[in-house]
Amino acid sequence: MSTVYTNIAELVTNDPTLGDGSPLGLLTDAALVVDDGMVGWVGTRDDAPAADAEVDLGGAAVIPGFVDSHAHLVFAGDRSTEFAARMAGTRYDGGGIATTVEATRAADDAHLAANVGRLAAELRRGGVTTFETKSGYGLTTPDELRSLRVAAEFTSETTFLGAHVVPAEFAGDRGEYVRLVAGDMLAACRPHARWIDVFCERGAFDVDEARTILQAGADAGLTPRLHAAQLGPGEGIRLGVELGAASVDHCTYATDADIEALASASAATVATLLPGAEFSTRAAYPDARRFLDAGATVALATDCNPGSSYTTSMSFCIAIAVRDMGFTPAEALWSATAGGAAALRRPDVGGLALGQRAHFAVLDAPSYLHLAYRPGVPLIAGVVAV
Ligand code: NIG
Ligand code: FE
Repeated sequence: MSTVYTNIAELVTNDPTLGDGSPLGLLTDAALVVDDGMVGWVGTRDDAPAADAEVDLGGAAVIPGFVDSHAHLVFAGDRSTEFAARMAGTRYDGGGIATTVEATRAADDAHLAANVGRLAAELRRGGVTTFETKSGYGLTTPDELRSLRVAAEFTSETTFLGAHVVPAEFAGDRGEYVRLVAGDMLAACRPHARWIDVFCERGAFDVDEARTILQAGADAGLTPRLHAAQLGPGEGIRLGVELGAASVDHCTYATDADIEALASASAATVATLLPGAEFSTRAAYPDARRFLDAGATVALATDCNPGSSYTTSMSFCIAIAVRDMGFTPAEALWSATAGGAAALRRPDVGGLALGQRAHFAVLDAPSYLHLAYRPGVPLIAGVVAV
């Protein structure tokens, strides 16, 4: 079955060999053919081939579906009062994670699945067609395992984050918890995860603990990614590059040496920036120009979680990225689509080049520029992703 989508005022392909030759591979007055769920043809409207069905998009802009490479959707409970306290001046230090751990352990599987389903539907309505999600609010072997089982009902991009924080019952012996995560917990969770993540930060896990856990994960066949430099500078970003992690996430306090490592020719690690977290913790935004001008690959993601960033809106992240982080609108859109795909090592998504999955969002706007130009306005008119 093939469908030709015509009358597209502006089509973003992320294929620089197409259209204007920019990284967005931008075509105007375009058409797109979807053949069995894949992009079969892209070009100008007048050249469009016939197909089994035709859809006139009425002069809308079409963008690749957003790829959200960082989210924590498996949880129970609410931390809105913690958010309100922060807006009144309380500092975020990750301490609230324990509140969510308690609520998550007390919830049954059906409740957790319903919550993930609700957030996954929000992501989709907002134009996200691929998303990653992590465990990390269970912190016992059975609770991490069921978190990943629930996550896997909704996405193939599942991440084992047993090393989110040391749970209260191990406060007296963190070494024992690190051994558990890198040992029995990893062995139980491994079949349900693609990635392994560690919150490498003061108050969570230090760089040696992170190395032990990520190396054990890699030995077991999971690919590392990590939370690094969110609350202060540290060695996490360089550890990620050294281990060939798919991405290092937050990077709020990245140093020049960190950026140099990320931009080095051999680096296979994407820098994932999470503006929702700075917004919701009232932290200073990182300057994306430092990463982009150095040549690092940059992704934007929502970090959706009940504590530091309770948003599923990639459009909101793009608006912040453009307004406050130094991204051009084109760079922000690229990072929220192709950048996220790079962070998940998914060449099949994140763009609309020939042979990629036909995952796209139709905007209630004539240009992708409106995503930042019209902040807070629900511009995703529809999503196609089979
Ligand atoms: O990415 N930094 C660690 N993890 C989450 C926050 C978790 C929470 O506060 O519940 C993050 O910001
Ligand atoms: Fe996170």
